[in-house]
Amino acid sequence: MGIPTPIRRAPRATFRRNRGKGSEREAAACHSPPAVSGDVAALRCGRGLRVTLVALGVALLTACGQTIESYPCPPGSTLTYQNFGAAFMRLQCLSCHGEASRDRAGAPGEFNFDTLEQIQRHTARIFVRAAASNDSMPPGPGDPPLEERNRLAEWLACGARP
Ligand code: HEC
Repeated sequence: MGIPTPIRRAPRATFRRNRGKGSEREAAACHSPPAVSGDVAALRCGRGLRVTLVALGVALLTACGQTIESYPCPPGSTLTYQNFGAAFMRLQCLSCHGEASRDRAGAPGEFNFDTLEQIQRHTARIFVRAAASNDSMPPGPGDPPLEERNRLAEWLACGARP
């Protein structure tokens, strides 16, 4: 549910610890004739390391998801609090993040989204939890469809206009 920060750090630390030994072994492998198939030889000569790094990078991006800074406001966007934001929040978020919520299910008290002002205070966090490809909020099944989350992304990226 939460942003998996500790999970992201572990592989990098492991990589750093193993680097010394790995490069010695690689150097040896690169000087001996390729007795094994091309792929394995390439792996030994460091391509494996690059592939691993690229895979790590992709995993990292996926784990972080999209941010409000990385999402351009499409020119001509017509989404407003009136025609989109208020209803989206009421339907998807206020049951836990509302002043009147009777069961917050653990939603932090400082994260209420009843008013445009409250939303504007937290646009970056709302984005990384619920907009576009981000779907850790609302928690559990019954996420709003991607189309709706893309509209949320657009509305927030364009400044959460009234
Ligand atoms: C079923 C209850 C529930 C619903 C519905 C819900 N949340 Fe949450 N929310 C939580 C809980 C519990 C936490 C604290 C745990 C956590 O951060 O994962 C939380 C925390 C948050 C936080 C603060 C943590 C952070 O990452 O900064 C934000 C922002 C947030 N939710 C956004 C939303 C948005 C936007 C919606 C609607 C799309 C939503 N939530 C719907 C229960 C809910």
